[in-house]
Amino acid sequence: MHQSRYGKRAAVALAFGLFLIVSACDKPSTYNQAEASLPVTYKLPISINDVMVALVNDAADPIWMAAWQEPKTDEEWRELERKAYQLQLAGSLIAHPGTGALDHKWTAKPGWQQWSNQLHATGVDAIAAVENRDLAAIGNIGDQLVEVCEGCHRDFKLPFPTGGKFGELSPVPSE
Ligand code: HEC
Repeated sequence: MHQSRYGKRAAVALAFGLFLIVSACDKPSTYNQAEASLPVTYKLPISINDVMVALVNDAADPIWMAAWQEPKTDEEWRELERKAYQLQLAGSLIAHPGTGALDHKWTAKPGWQQWSNQLHATGVDAIAAVENRDLAAIGNIGDQLVEVCEGCHRDFKLPFPTGGKFGELSPVPSE
């Protein structure tokens, strides 16, 4: 009697274990492809508001500026290439929630995942354009960026950032 009850429990535990494995395997298929290498539960150690100010905005400005302030030296081009990598990385990071109050709510939305994927893709294009030193392509990427930033802000951003952090105003060609 004791024996069989134990056997039953083991069977239930095994079935539950299998269920966990199956449901864990199920998730990546519905998940943003660019993020496939990070676990779904990955959580950023800072808020999305901070990622915007410290990484996204910081990487995007030099790429916009390059259209009218062309990099001259190899060193300047290398620096711009780093910004393009940062932009791609930022697109991947913001697919995940951080410590911000609304981060989980935002990142759970398919529309959010699409915009962050777009930012990732624009970063990939920016890397190629910078590596080819193709100023026309860099100009187009600047325009593409405006659409991605403004598109996601229009869909999700509140008038005041939840973390109270604003970015610097973007430079304009006359500067
Ligand atoms: C996937 C959506 C998404 C994309 C793409 C995105 N943002 Fe944001 N951004 C947000 C949200 C949401 C906030 C507000 C965060 C908060 O309130 O916690 C924000 C906040 C910011 C802030 C801080 C608040 C402010 O008004 O200064 C800056 C700066 C910013 N974004 C710049 C950019 C730039 C530049 C780009 C494009 C290169 C960009 N963002 C792309 C969603 C996005």
